[in-house]
Amino acid sequence: MRWAERQLAMLREMGVRLWLPPGEAAPQADQASATGPSVAQASGAVTVATRVAPAPVRAAATAPTRPLLEQPPRERAGGVDGVATLGWPALREAVTACTACALCNSRRQTVFGVGSEQAHWMVVGEAPGEQEDIQGEPFVGKSGQLLDNMLQALGLTRGKAEPAQQVYIANTLKCRPPGNRNPAPEELAQCEAFLVRQVQLLQPRIILAMGAFAVKSLLRSTEPVGKLRGRVHHYQGVPLIVTYHPAYLLRNPADKARAWDDLCLAAETVQAAASR
Ligand code: URA
Repeated sequence: MRWAERQLAMLREMGVRLWLPPGEAAPQADQASATGPSVAQASGAVTVATRVAPAPVRAAATAPTRPLLEQPPRERAGGVDGVATLGWPALREAVTACTACALCNSRRQTVFGVGSEQAHWMVVGEAPGEQEDIQGEPFVGKSGQLLDNMLQALGLTRGKAEPAQQVYIANTLKCRPPGNRNPAPEELAQCEAFLVRQVQLLQPRIILAMGAFAVKSLLRSTEPVGKLRGRVHHYQGVPLIVTYHPAYLLRNPADKARAWDDLCLAAETVQAAASR
């Protein structure tokens, strides 16, 4: 959807951060900065899916070739052995057959990941919940609906699209913790090698780490999400943006505006890398 100048001006006036693809410069440059602090954010009034400008993400004209990601140091990828050289099909089979921790006893099925193996975007969540355990796909419950809406606002999808618009979604854990309890440290450690390999195979242009457990697993940090968001981190050479978990946003809708800011930062980071 394209926005008229009047609508853009109004959104800026409301303090809503806009993300415009290159070549679609803001029509009124003297207006409040698109990246500046926002009134709406402060009030927490903005909801991602309904009040932001859904500027579609465009494919880079010439996609830069990406070097194969380095193997992580051995000590980083603990847990399950022998996955560091697997391709997608064998990796999926290894996850399906995994009995490395006790979660294999209570799961209905493993939840490997979803999306194109060519996707430029990767979302990393926490662990499957009940619906994911039933359906075998990440983020299919209420959190998933919110996630899909947030992604859609940037023109992104887990479905069919050009690679630049596609998102691959995976979790730190591939099995549901009983009762949706938090992942245990030893479960995260056992499962980590699978996620490491998914990142290596995918070689995404950007990773969105959603929530404390994605941050713990990818950045080895126990800092709160609120302290880590708002800047670009790196994981195995891939730019990584920390943002709130959709389940948290359902409980704390006032932070949806900050999550939108994080998505805009991610889109700007991808765009900047493509135009280099
Ligand atoms: N929450 C997650 O972190 N992942 C899912 O797949 C579902 C809910």
